Amino acid sequence: MAFKWASIPLFILLWSTSASCATSDFENTAIVRSAELGGSVVHVTTTYSVRALVDNSKTYTVVLGAYERSKTSWIEAKIKGQDKALPTTERAESDYTLIDVSLPTALSTNKTLNLVLETVQTHATVPWPATAAQTEEQKLKYGTDLFVLSPYKTLIQRTKLRSIAPRIVAHTEPQGVDKFAGDALVTKSGSTIVYGPYSNIPPSANQNFVEEYQQRVEIQYYLEQPVLEVTEYKRAVEVSHWGANVNTQDEITLHNAGPKLKGHFSRLEHQVQSYTRKLAPHLLPALQLNLPAGIRNAYYYDQIGNVSTSKLRVAPLGPKGFPRSQQSVLELKPRYPLLGGWNYTFTLGWDAPLEGSVSYNKKTGAYTLAVPILTPVPGSVVNNEELTIILPEGATDVDFATPFAPVSATLGTHVTYLDTVGRPSITLRYENLTLKHAQEVYVTYKVPFTAHLRKAVSVAFAFFSLFAVAIIARRIDLSIGPKQKVQ
Ligand SMILES: *[C@@H]1O[C@H](CO)[C@@H](O)[C@H](O)[C@H]1NC(C)=O
Ligand SMILES: *[C@@H]1O[C@H](CO)[C@@H](O)[C@H](O)[C@H]1NC(C)=O
Ligand SMILES: *[C@@H]1O[C@H](CO)[C@@H](O)[C@H](O)[C@H]1NC(C)=O
Ligand SMILES: *[C@@H]1O[C@H](CO)[C@@H](O)[C@H](O)[C@H]1NC(C)=O
Repeated sequence: MAFKWASIPLFILLWSTSASCATSDFENTAIVRSAELGGSVVHVTTTYSVRALVDNSKTYTVVLGAYERSKTSWIEAKIKGQDKALPTTERAESDYTLIDVSLPTALSTNKTLNLVLETVQTHATVPWPATAAQTEEQKLKYGTDLFVLSPYKTLIQRTKLRSIAPRIVAHTEPQGVDKFAGDALVTKSGSTIVYGPYSNIPPSANQNFVEEYQQRVEIQYYLEQPVLEVTEYKRAVEVSHWGANVNTQDEITLHNAGPKLKGHFSRLEHQVQSYTRKLAPHLLPALQLNLPAGIRNAYYYDQIGNVSTSKLRVAPLGPKGFPRSQQSVLELKPRYPLLGGWNYTFTLGWDAPLEGSVSYNKKTGAYTLAVPILTPVPGSVVNNEELTIILPEGATDVDFATPFAPVSATLGTHVTYLDTVGRPSITLRYENLTLKHAQEVYVTYKVPFTAHLRKAVSVAFAFFSLFAVAIIARRIDLSIGPKQKVQ
């Protein structure tokens, strides 16, 4: 009897503490989510106004529904007004993903905090209808979960879906959530659709709530810019200490992911539209790319050849150690306007001085190379990227650091003309990259004196061979010449 008495309260105690860890550490006094609807990229900012309900609360959990998570390629949590991203760890459940955010300092009871979760979604919109004639406008459809799920009770929450142009065609009316709503379930004003405010929402990161209330809401809107995707992006960066040069070559396949062209493309219609400055929004006539400052020998060609309709303005290289705010600008005009469903593949390359991206550490004897992962194509997602970094021949102690995890990373050897042992190379693969991912990979390596020497010898040998061949050829030529003349 005594044993039973003792065990029951202990069981209850254990059960209640484990439950409190999950749901009653915090309360959301408000959640506001805003999605900026674009083409292939959608930015979502969610602000959580948080109040701690117990002392020493230092991990706050945010939640993304399974569908949202599958479309999200960038996640960053910060304290409102601060620059530093907070460390996060993810735990996937069947219906949603829990993301634990480590707060910079533990909160005591009743302390409040505004946490901002910034995410970037890719491929979250679809052309709707799926086809459009050359003179028609384009409409897209975007879908999202009605509720921002949370393990904590939420006093009030709302979701704003904002399109660039104030032209929203249609939106979904939520079902069966009247008990949370005040006056209206959804309101429309200009370019914004607001779901909510919804009040007194119980902890919602659980199967019961998801099954009973969670639902997909959709919005259809006009987009006046083309929906662009880079389906393949191959960047090769080759470092040469011998030539004091870093060569970058990009092979880019651009895809217009807007509504597919209905009927035929009429060049005449296109010219009329260009002339009256009323180009169909789903058509891409030209593109502007920001390239690094101080580049030289830039080239741009496609499957047919050199594309002469491009313009490059090279910004000067900044003084050493200063950030280079100014960038070179390439105005790139594809050989044909890119219509819905069409692709255009082109190659872009340039040389840059070695000192612009490589630094040397005298203490360790190691070089550090900074490689930009991509040159962003404005408004576009990069579906697949392969980044290959080719180091000088004979480089040793190769190591690299990436700002975010690649899908895969491989080390290899690249052998080119005049090489004896080949060049160490690093190949990184990425998926679904956006402007947020336009960061740098850092590679460290050493180039032993013998490697410099070997290169010098192999180049000298090549010159010597060429020289020798020339002499021999001349000799042969000389000896043949007179004989032929004699005959
Ligand atoms: C927290 O706030 C509530 C309501 O404002 C109050 O009743 C409670 O005493 C406060 N707790 C602490 C530890 O300050
Ligand atoms: C390619 O076209 C550009 C003009 O944009 C020209 O300056 C360059 O010399 C051309 N390159 C070749 C190899 O023809
Ligand atoms: C464009 O490329 C995609 C693959 O990325 C392909 O499915 C599609 O058929 C291509 N479109 C055209 C018009 O060639
Ligand atoms: C990239 O996006 C596609 C389409 O949404 C998705 O199928 C794929 O899993 C994503 N890749 C990664 C690494 O998230």
